[in-house]
Amino acid sequence: MCGIAGYIGEQPAGALLLNAIRQLEYRGYDSVGIATIHGGTLHVRKGVGKVSDVNAALRFAEMAGTLGISHTRWSTHGKPCQENAHPFVDERQEFALVHNGIIENYLELKEKLRKEGVSFSSETDSEVIVHLIARNYRHQHESERRSIKEAVLKTLQELQGAYAFCVLHQASQEIIAVRNGSPLVIGLGERENFLASDVSALIQHTKRVIYVNDFELARVTKDAVELFSFHGEKHPLHVKDIKWDLEQAQKQGYKHFMLKEIFEQPEVIAESLRTPHSAFAPFVPLSFASEPSTFTTQSARRYKHITIVACGTASYAGLLGKYLLERISGIPAVNEIASEFRYRDPLLENNSLVIAISQSGETADTLAAIRLAKEKGARTLGIINVVDSTIAREVADVLYTRAGPEIGVASTKAFTAQLVTLYQLAFALAGKKSDLPFDIIENVKKTLALNEHIKQLAQKYYHSQNFLYIGRNTNFPLALEGALKLKEISYIHAEAYPAGELKHGPIALVSEEMPTIAICPQDAVYQKTLSNIEEIKARNGKVIAIGTEGDTTLQKLCDDVIFVPKVDEIFYPLVLAIPLQLFAYHIADIKECDVDQPRNLAKSVTVE
Ligand code: F6R
Repeated sequence: MCGIAGYIGEQPAGALLLNAIRQLEYRGYDSVGIATIHGGTLHVRKGVGKVSDVNAALRFAEMAGTLGISHTRWSTHGKPCQENAHPFVDERQEFALVHNGIIENYLELKEKLRKEGVSFSSETDSEVIVHLIARNYRHQHESERRSIKEAVLKTLQELQGAYAFCVLHQASQEIIAVRNGSPLVIGLGERENFLASDVSALIQHTKRVIYVNDFELARVTKDAVELFSFHGEKHPLHVKDIKWDLEQAQKQGYKHFMLKEIFEQPEVIAESLRTPHSAFAPFVPLSFASEPSTFTTQSARRYKHITIVACGTASYAGLLGKYLLERISGIPAVNEIASEFRYRDPLLENNSLVIAISQSGETADTLAAIRLAKEKGARTLGIINVVDSTIAREVADVLYTRAGPEIGVASTKAFTAQLVTLYQLAFALAGKKSDLPFDIIENVKKTLALNEHIKQLAQKYYHSQNFLYIGRNTNFPLALEGALKLKEISYIHAEAYPAGELKHGPIALVSEEMPTIAICPQDAVYQKTLSNIEEIKARNGKVIAIGTEGDTTLQKLCDDVIFVPKVDEIFYPLVLAIPLQLFAYHIADIKECDVDQPRNLAKSVTVE
């Protein structure tokens, strides 16, 4: 989820591109860089850290030239360091390139280029693109006028994966940009044009934009924009007027980062399904870290027991992971709150696998739990979002989730990305080739379309002082997560129980004033949960159920129902999480709470 930008016009490019990456910094902040062209020569400055720190040292605004590209990085391949920072240049330093996305076949391409004599300066997948373009440019027929567009089109035939990139050549007054799976927008000015990963980076200059579609190449000069298919056919331009202002655009038109992040979940799932570890064969290393790994799906099967350690939302993903790992891979698994695990002298052996789940990769208790597991001789594996974070560096192996930067303090898309990775791990440990079905993305989108209905329910129930959340099997960890979402952002008391536990105490709480959110899709425990709902209704409790579309029994029984699409039973958690997040969000918003930065909380909990 890096940010890319481009500028061509009559103003100093350095200052404009610096502003653009400031706006895009939410997409990644490991390293930044800018390339401009001045006097027929490429000028590149790049460094590790946040935009403001790197800029203090490199003074991007002073770069000469009225044409350039810029990048802010969220590391995927290779750690954040000077060598891995974009832009990348070819060996003759004629081309510069910035890239967002993943080139899946980069190892193969790298090998091929190496054999052709190309040497690489970084560990990234992105660098192969610039070398391929340079090679294809030079291979064009000497007698014809060489074309960067043609060299890029040829290169596209060799690339697999998801990407958006911008490339420029020192002797040419144009930017060539391409989109396939990663966002790209062009801003139209007077004798100047802009490119960026999202509108926030160009809206202060123009509100007239063209969204580049997947499989389109753009040729941008200061006076013109042309779009082509990947086969070189010309496409029409559809210019749109943006209605947002800059402040809103930073959240891409969403009122809060949390809402934006909830709506990003289809993209997060798609991104996760594209990662190399989603398709690994039994003997392929599980690790996706920069270090080579000896941990393969084959060797992982020697572990007789899995312990998952995490905190908060990550721990609820872990509890769901326990259910999934046991059910899919047949390996016994337990989930432990990291802060408990670290102080209870757990019994671990060298055939134990300890998995740490963490969005930030910095949570103190999870880190301590991993250190303890290592001391006791267990093998450690991280499911981590922030690349090269402390836990990612301390575990023996790491699977990076593909949520991108999560800014809202309440975790939403990171939770979903953790679930997707747990599914992938469970399938891999089971030695099964199967992965998540791609139609899950469509079903998540359909569930997001329930937003207005859920907002109306929030209006109806926001006065309640207490809520109960219930569910069985995988719906129980979801109940815990739903209750946590509600309490942390709306400050309403909410408790979650396995539905079968109600009659062992909590049912005493049930009254008209305490609504219950019952997670009740048509799965193996549907009838059992239905009986628990009956018990609540018999005591005048209000029930808001989350169920499967077309379920008339649930509709008749409950006060309100949120219907999600029918999916394969095992994948229900991916759709059921959405209404829980949206319900909490809208209640907090109606109550005018600080949704993105709730009181007393921080995004990264680095103290115990
Ligand atoms: C809740 C939330 C927290 C985190 C917890 C662990 O919405 O975000 O409960 O899940 O603090 O954080 P990470 O995943 O960074 O270890």
